[in-house]
This record gives sequence, structure tokens and C-alpha cells, in this order.
Amino acid sequence: MHMCNKGFIFDLDGVIVDTAKFHYLAWKDLANDLKIPFTEAQNEELKGVSRIESLKKILEWGDLSISESDFHSIMDGKNKKYLSYIATMGEEEILPDVKKTLDFLAAKKQKIALGSASKNARSILEKVSLIDYFQVIVDGNNVTKAKPNPEVFLKAAEEVEASSKDCIVFEDSIAGIQAANTAGMISIGIGDEKILHEADYVFKNFTQISNEFLIELMNK
Ligand code: BG6
Ligand code: MG
Repeated sequence: MHMCNKGFIFDLDGVIVDTAKFHYLAWKDLANDLKIPFTEAQNEELKGVSRIESLKKILEWGDLSISESDFHSIMDGKNKKYLSYIATMGEEEILPDVKKTLDFLAAKKQKIALGSASKNARSILEKVSLIDYFQVIVDGNNVTKAKPNPEVFLKAAEEVEASSKDCIVFEDSIAGIQAANTAGMISIGIGDEKILHEADYVFKNFTQISNEFLIELMNK
């Protein structure tokens, strides 16, 4: 196995597509039904976190314990709501310059992987017609440990045959940045630098990432 490859690993929700807002809305509806207050600051703690861990956190915030069957039906309800929000989603939900970045990396023959907590990842990439860019997809169906555990990124690295130090992770969540850092990868935060201060680099969005910077990453 040649380990000289670089691996460019992308999170999905909030990095490639503007779906973080739909996760937020779906959880907010649910928290309201349960009479649990839910703020945008708390929502930052849910970003990147699996469906099951997200519900556990919300219930903790509300100091609420429920039966196993209610837990499952609430998770189910959240996903149904989320799916209804994204039902009509198309390429317009791709975040600015994501496609340009993927095109550039592909033209430079770089390995591109997805590292997402979502069980809906494949269908979303298909909906927005980006699936063909990804040589490897590791998502919520392939991992047992939620971010900030690095499992999802370590698996992606293994599948693109790159060592951790040669992987670059794009993430919009605190949990995801922590996962990348723990894995020993280069972490690039996409969003607010105050929130993502643990990242090696932070950009507001991909319009701020130059080709020169990408080339620098390839040569690191
Ligand atoms: C992450 C999102 O990408 O996927 C989280 O940031 C979400 O908000 C998680 O909970 C799991 O997604 P899904 O689609 O399997 O419920
Ligand atoms: Mg995300």
C-alpha cells in the first residue's frame, strides 16, 4: 500500500450543503414538543453529532428521561421531519465554491472522501449531483462511534490509503474539528473562527480558500 497520498476529507452537513439549518429546525420542533428550551448555542453542540447522541443531549438539557420506545419514535420523527425539509433540495443548496474546490482537487488527481455522521449522506450527495467526486464515503451507516471520536475520519483515511498526517479535514462543527485533531489530521474549520478556534485553519466558507492554499496542502 502506498501511503504518500493526501486525503481530502469533507464533512457533509454545513460544509458541502446548507443542511445544518434543516437539522436545527427539525430538532427545534422536537424540543418544543417536549417543552425543552433549545438555543442556537446549544445547537452548536449538536453539529456533527449522530442522531442518537443528539437526542440524548437534548433530553439531558431538559432533564427528561423517557422509555426506549419513545426514544426511538422521537428519533424517527426527527428524521421524517428532516427528510421533509430536504425533500425538494437540489444543487442550489450546495455551499459557495464547494464545487469549484472539488473540481480543482479532482483536476489535481487528489483523493476525495466524505466523512459524515449522517445516515442520509449518500442520498443527499445524489440529490445535489456531487456523488461522483467522492472515491470514498464513510457515513453514519459505517461507524459506531460519534464525532468527536475520530473513527469516521480514520476509516476514510484508511480507505483512501493515506496516513492520518496526510489527511485534511473540512468541518463546520466543534465535534468534527476535535475528531480531526485527535486523528492527527489537518483540521480546517468552515464557519465562525470564534466557535471553531480549535481548528488549524478557519475560513468563513470556500470562497476564501484559494487554489494556492490547496496546493500548499497538497505539498505539505
Ligand atoms: C451530522 C449533522 O452531519 O449528521 C448532525 O451535523 C446530524 O446534525 C448527524 O445529527 C446525523 O445525521 P442524520 O441525517 O443521520 O440524522
Ligand atoms: Mg457538519
